[in-house]
Amino acid sequence: MSSSSKRIAVIPGDGIGPEVTAVAVKALRTVLAAGRREAEFTEFDWGAERYLRDGVSFPTGALEMLRSQFDAILFGAVGDPRVPSNQHALDILFGMRFGLDLYVNIRPCVLFDRRFTPLRDRTEADVNFVVLRENTEGLYANIGGQFKRNTPDEVALQEEVNTRKGVERILRYAFEDARTRPRKRLCMSDKSNALTHGHDLWQRVYRELRQQYADVESRHLYIDTLVMEMVRDPAQFDVIVTNNLFGDIVSDLGAQLSGGLGLSPSANIHPGHVSMFEPVHGSAPTIAGKNQANPFGAILTAGMLCDFLGWREQGDALRGAVRTALREGKCTADLGGTLGTREAGDHIAKLISH
Ligand SMILES: NC(=O)c1ccc[n+]([C@@H]2O[C@H](COP(=O)([O-])OP(=O)(O)OC[C@H]3O[C@@H](n4cnc5c(N)ncnc54)[C@H](O)[C@@H]3O)[C@@H](O)[C@H]2O)c1
Repeated sequence: MSSSSKRIAVIPGDGIGPEVTAVAVKALRTVLAAGRREAEFTEFDWGAERYLRDGVSFPTGALEMLRSQFDAILFGAVGDPRVPSNQHALDILFGMRFGLDLYVNIRPCVLFDRRFTPLRDRTEADVNFVVLRENTEGLYANIGGQFKRNTPDEVALQEEVNTRKGVERILRYAFEDARTRPRKRLCMSDKSNALTHGHDLWQRVYRELRQQYADVESRHLYIDTLVMEMVRDPAQFDVIVTNNLFGDIVSDLGAQLSGGLGLSPSANIHPGHVSMFEPVHGSAPTIAGKNQANPFGAILTAGMLCDFLGWREQGDALRGAVRTALREGKCTADLGGTLGTREAGDHIAKLISH
């Protein structure tokens, strides 16, 4: 292995995770070989099977190992009906997102083919934006408690955490990202008219930063207005940045506008540190093991991993292959094709190597 070789941890997980991840790794190996890039893949068996076997979800020392021995993590999906508490999935996913401090969740919403948007008369030019979600704070910090549980007087509290450091780093990332895009537009969304403490902090940091990024055309929308505008006229958006909860929700809306779960990739990153890449969909237990899952979300996720490692050309090649396959109708049944998971993956590999 040369010094430019990258080390990639692969965590296929549960359900359709292993099926789509196998296809994504094959596409990745093919595109890297074609571009003479080197990577070493190491697979980990973290998921429901292992948890049910020996009680281990996210092994002790896993974080340190990922941090010190890997450049990037390719993740499938977790979740299994045999673990109704979903404990192993929370340990693994949140273990990595919070433990590795992966503060930017990136969800590109790009319409590859106009047939796949539910919006009437919209084309590829109308849906091409990215949602940047704060990924380590907000309502997902798991701070709160329950009092008088299961009584008529029960009280449940869930606290929203907003730190200046956390808000500033995600907003700064968003302004920097907007700067690199042709339209250089940013929309920050919150609910500061009602959440007058936490979201006022977002407002103040946003106003400070927009002075420093005068070349970026920035504006603010309350979250309720944002979701209406995303449906009414998605073409106005370029970079959308928001907190953890709102980002979770609007990125799913964005996924639907751009073709649905089977086509949606995502990245959880901390610039300069080991980062994690996963398709947006879950483990889809009802179609697991049937060679039916759409692997394109996982392949586009591998494309984001390439971008992160500085292999933009390979990322573009993966996105180009998916675009071509969709135009040809060489895809799985959820997008109107007739191919199985493996066959759709084989077609992508063929497109890349020609
Ligand atoms: N990041 C993750 O690992 C993640 C994310 C969401 C849900 N989950 C877990 O996944 C399990 C199932 O959750 P869910 O049903 O709410 O969400 P899901 O994304 O697994 O499935 C939602 C629907 O979309 C379909 N679908 C999903 N991915 C598809 C693909 N690649 N190709 C074709 N169809 C696809 C499924 O069959 C299902 O009808 C749960 O255990 C949940 O906790 C995990």
